[in-house]
Amino acid sequence: MRIVVTGGAGFIGSNFIRYMRSAHPEHKILCLDKLTYAGNLDNLEGILGSPNFIFSKTDIADENAVNEALKSFMPDVIVNFAAESHVDRSIADAKDFVRTNVEGVRVLLEAARMTGARFHQISTDEVYGDLPVTSTEKFTETSALRPSSPYSATKAAADLLALAYHRTYGLFVTVSRSSNNYGMNQYPEKLIPLAVKNILCGKPVPVYGDGGNVRDWIAVEDHSEAVDIILERGKSGEVYNVGGGNERTNREIVDGIIKILGRGDREFVRDRAGHDRRYALDSGKMYAEFGWKPKVPFKEGFIRTVQGYAKKG
Ligand SMILES: NC(=O)c1ccc[n+]([C@@H]2O[C@H](COP(=O)([O-])OP(=O)(O)OC[C@H]3O[C@@H](n4cnc5c(N)ncnc54)[C@H](O)[C@@H]3O)[C@@H](O)[C@H]2O)c1
Repeated sequence: MRIVVTGGAGFIGSNFIRYMRSAHPEHKILCLDKLTYAGNLDNLEGILGSPNFIFSKTDIADENAVNEALKSFMPDVIVNFAAESHVDRSIADAKDFVRTNVEGVRVLLEAARMTGARFHQISTDEVYGDLPVTSTEKFTETSALRPSSPYSATKAAADLLALAYHRTYGLFVTVSRSSNNYGMNQYPEKLIPLAVKNILCGKPVPVYGDGGNVRDWIAVEDHSEAVDIILERGKSGEVYNVGGGNERTNREIVDGIIKILGRGDREFVRDRAGHDRRYALDSGKMYAEFGWKPKVPFKEGFIRTVQGYAKKG
């Protein structure tokens, strides 16, 4: 298979590439990444320059550049991880989010039409909006889209655009919506690497509001495996929820990090505007159709991740 992976120098994209190199060394991968503040070629250490792997510094919202990069590669599949991904930045200014997360997806969908490739969109549980902390309800693939932040609104727009390309042009499109990923290579503005960094520097860890917001955590390798399965067996026009089944409050995550490192303090700060209270995904469709289930026990993966960031310093 010839696969274009966009955003492969970021957190999940780089872990996905590493996963695919090990699971399917015969696949050829072309990585397109603009290398924004969140992209880092160190995340591809040992892969850059290796056979069956090409890196191209390309902006997915630049149509000419994307077409030029794809012309000679002629992919079977385009998997889109590239995005502006930080909610707080989208609240400060949504411009780059609309450009990359919506216009960039349009450009990639057109490129898929042009090359005959199928298209997989990496989406998020945040497109569904939030649930009350007191409920046990979970979002299914047919739940309404009610995004709360400019970030999640652009991701919902991208999902709908991709699905419209399936219906209108018959393009082979799949969408996966995962919960919060944890693992190595995450930019230290996100909760786990930020908390470790602050604690190592002797600074308190900022926790929004009362810290009672609930997120469902999935190991990045479990997410990568789910995407691999969808690429092989997913049906066109379908959406797949990919949750970890590990709901934790932000306070529990920060307290867990403090416990693992044996030091550190938290500091409650003014809540994020429009802060979603609880995300929870029903991943029953992935279980029933493909027999996929997350494998990494949360405690084990979480300790490994915190210790990994602490070791990196
Ligand atoms: N991190 C999570 O927990 C999580 C959860 C669910 C879904 N997602 C989705 O997964 C995908 C990857 O998230 P992440 O956490 O790895 O993000 P990230 O911010 O770590 O990485 C994003 C990557 O995309 C690249 N990029 C940004 N704009 C680009 C552009 N215009 N052209 C080409 N490349 C560009 C960046 O350079 C970076 O390498 C995103 O689509 C995000 O919405 C993330």
